[in-house]
Amino acid sequence: MTRLAVIGGSGFAGLGQMKVVRREIVRTPYGEPSGPLVIGDIHGVAMLFLPRHGPGHVLPPHRVNYRANLWALKESGATGIVAVAAVGGIGSNCGPGTIALPEQIIDYTYGREHTYCDGSDRQVTHVDFTQPYDPDLRRKLLLAAARAGEPVLDTGVYAATQGPRLETAAEIVRLQRDGATLVGMTGMPEAGLARELGIPYAHLCVVSNWAAGCGDSRERISHADLQSTLDHSIGRVQRVIVALAEALGRA
Ligand code: HPA
Repeated sequence: MTRLAVIGGSGFAGLGQMKVVRREIVRTPYGEPSGPLVIGDIHGVAMLFLPRHGPGHVLPPHRVNYRANLWALKESGATGIVAVAAVGGIGSNCGPGTIALPEQIIDYTYGREHTYCDGSDRQVTHVDFTQPYDPDLRRKLLLAAARAGEPVLDTGVYAATQGPRLETAAEIVRLQRDGATLVGMTGMPEAGLARELGIPYAHLCVVSNWAAGCGDSRERISHADLQSTLDHSIGRVQRVIVALAEALGRA
């Protein structure tokens, strides 16, 4: 049975169209997830929703218990994960308001619990991560976006930084040299853990601002502009997810 999980990032506190059946606090061997799992459906398709930063957005990116979050989703039967995240735009085609489905990741985070292979009872496995995002789920999301009439950029290299501060202009120049086109703080270890658990995972990124030193963020990043871009984009993200749920329901 299909059970689509959505992890909501900054500015994305819930799925308005979801019929909520119950909320469940899932305990895991890795501690507690960011908050109760919201369980329900959209047009009859089973859905799970988890706010990454917890109810009230209290957890900074380096304090999110990614292992517990992904474990709880697996335990609750997630067959695919759409991870929604606000990001900064580095690539010239990644201006504020762009919704992008990146294809690749570069991980610059440190000090996070990033694997289930931690030398306890689990056999060490070196999971393949050549293509970090699930190609089939990406394809389905792109089709859903087209059906919903929402333009989505079908490419991108996501740089995961440590945060919670935003980057310096020089750091963004370095990321650009490395080939990154988008920058966010939560994409890793989330995507890697999903792969370790074998859950198809795709990243729906909403560009909320030009990254430091780019475009109109040459001098500074305006939080007011960032927030208003997010507020304007969230409805579009919801439409893409509803269209995906509808397609999964027909399949
Ligand atoms: N950098 C890192 N993370 C972000 C940004 C950014 O500019 N905007 C939203 N999340």
